[in-house]
Amino acid sequence: GHSVVTLDDLSPQQIIELLRKAEYIDSHRRQVMHTCDGRILATLFYEPSTRTRLSFETAMLRLGGNVIGFAGAQLSSVSKGESISDTLKTVSNYADVVAIRHPKEGAALVASRAASVPVINAGDGGHMHPTQTLADLATLTSRFGRVNNLTVGLCGDLTFGRTVHSLISTLCRFGNVRFVLISPDELKTPQYVLDRINDTPSCSFVQTRDLVGVIGDLDVLYMTRVQKERFFNEDDYLRLRDTYILDEDKLRHAKPEMAVLHPLPRVNEIAVEVDNDPRAAYFEQVKNGMLMRMALESSVLGDELPGYEAWSGKEV
Ligand code: CP
Repeated sequence: GHSVVTLDDLSPQQIIELLRKAEYIDSHRRQVMHTCDGRILATLFYEPSTRTRLSFETAMLRLGGNVIGFAGAQLSSVSKGESISDTLKTVSNYADVVAIRHPKEGAALVASRAASVPVINAGDGGHMHPTQTLADLATLTSRFGRVNNLTVGLCGDLTFGRTVHSLISTLCRFGNVRFVLISPDELKTPQYVLDRINDTPSCSFVQTRDLVGVIGDLDVLYMTRVQKERFFNEDDYLRLRDTYILDEDKLRHAKPEMAVLHPLPRVNEIAVEVDNDPRAAYFEQVKNGMLMRMALESSVLGDELPGYEAWSGKEV
């Protein structure tokens, strides 16, 4: 198996295969519970996490494997100044696959080059979050039956939101998406991400500050948290954090079948009242995140899901 630093490390066919595997896993939980017997996953989290770390770990446990790792670098030898490379050369002796989250962009790439086992990027600074995108794609597939021919609004912190950068880059590979990029001027999408859209003839984008003005056009509204931990000063964060708050009042302008996604955690950018709206899809994303990590972990390890080949043969 090889590392997944961004989803560019997987072909579109491989991504579609992971979506199919996740669907199989969800309906065959008992059949797959020994898929990764004897395997060890290491989770190296240098940054806080609830969903990503716990779902990576749950995924391996549900496949029959085991888990080691650290959550917060202060109890590991990172606190003594050990480098990412030395840490990965060490952990490669212990684990068969590694998931790493780090505040610096590029950390997962450095880790993958030092490791002798597959490394999966669980978020590197404001850059990429490929396994979140897998959860997002599974959610779009279950809601719409497709990941293209959609108008996708992304709203909030488009500068530092790594989930946004990963999702846009990946949707461009499947093509035929119209992006509506909704942010304050200070939190616009970085040029390298806009270039992915510009380089894709079947995709386009518009940029706006006005959520209510565009919400009626959207099939998908991907809300994001303003990434406090990436700001250099508190005043800018406090000024920008409440720019967009999605509530039932704003949703009255949206299509009845629009899907509201959010990678979570949320602070207050989606009012709790929206959770009961059928358009709210963010807790489905959480479930899909675990299933997609089960599919990804077994795939990078080369472990066959019992019964899957016959099942997928039937479907085709
Ligand atoms: N969506 C996501 O990455 O959540 P955590 O930061 O809790 O892992």
